[in-house]
Amino acid sequence: MKKITSALVIMGVIFGLPLAAQADPYSDLQAFRAHFKKKFPTVKLSEYKNGLYALPIAKELRTEWEEIMVFPPAEPEVESGKKFWNKHNLGSCFKNKGVGIAQSYPRWDDKAKAVVTAEEDINNCLKSKGQKPIKNMKKGTMASVTAYFRSMANGKAVRLDLSNPGMRAEYEYGKKFFWARRGQLNFSCATCHVHNAGMRIGGNILSAALGHTTGFPVYRSKWGGLGTIHRRYGGCNKQVRAKPFKAQSREYKALEVYETYMSTGIPLSVPGQRG
Ligand code: HEC
Repeated sequence: MKKITSALVIMGVIFGLPLAAQADPYSDLQAFRAHFKKKFPTVKLSEYKNGLYALPIAKELRTEWEEIMVFPPAEPEVESGKKFWNKHNLGSCFKNKGVGIAQSYPRWDDKAKAVVTAEEDINNCLKSKGQKPIKNMKKGTMASVTAYFRSMANGKAVRLDLSNPGMRAEYEYGKKFFWARRGQLNFSCATCHVHNAGMRIGGNILSAALGHTTGFPVYRSKWGGLGTIHRRYGGCNKQVRAKPFKAQSREYKALEVYETYMSTGIPLSVPGQRG
């Protein structure tokens, strides 16, 4: 961590905001994709589902990564997520029994007037059956059940419905969060994952924000297990010495809406395997 932060201080570059200043979500998306197309002309859009391994600079790491995936370390956890899903018949709460629908999460719920994430719908389902909701929204059972649910939509291209004005407002809120500088280092998400994507920083390669949500929950060797997207957001906030928000907070849900919409058209690939 210390290595990362000092590398960043050295980097200390000032960035303009033209990408952040687009008018509507569709133009935002076009500008976002164009930025990465220019930066990494050889990388196909669908490749961004592989996180940093999509980038040319990660070529060597990618070989190692592909070897790890011959026996994916995440498999036992996803298997236990599947058992939990079947035991509680969670499929009964979802359209098409939950198969092939996760690419459209987070969704807008008009009754609740709120964004609902996959994790929240899993808990909603448990509650509707008189079961206790899962408490830890970052790892453990929730990560494994979410990984199973989302893996049933693997290969399906991300497609969010922003037509509801409430959803659209959360999109704008998430967009603001993504581009806002914070923490003692005064970095935004975009500083690392838009402007410095593909750079090495203290031994890490920075992934492109394009495709960011498509592998989640991911298995990280560093975590020794699966983690949800909000677990990762918390870690990234801490990296710039900013106070992390709670998993499933309004902030992280809105951020997930923004990052997911920016990943429109990229297929899910769950669980991702990361270092
Ligand atoms: C100091 C630089 C830095 C900042 C600022 C930062 N991150 Fe990260 N982030 C990283 C590093 C390093 C990794 C691990 C390598 C990678 O996958 O990019 C990472 C990984 C991620 C991943 C995992 C991608 C994957 O496919 O596994 C997501 C998602 C993410 N960051 C989102 C965010 C968001 C959202 C913000 C703003 C709240 C943010 N990051 C701010 C450095 C940063």
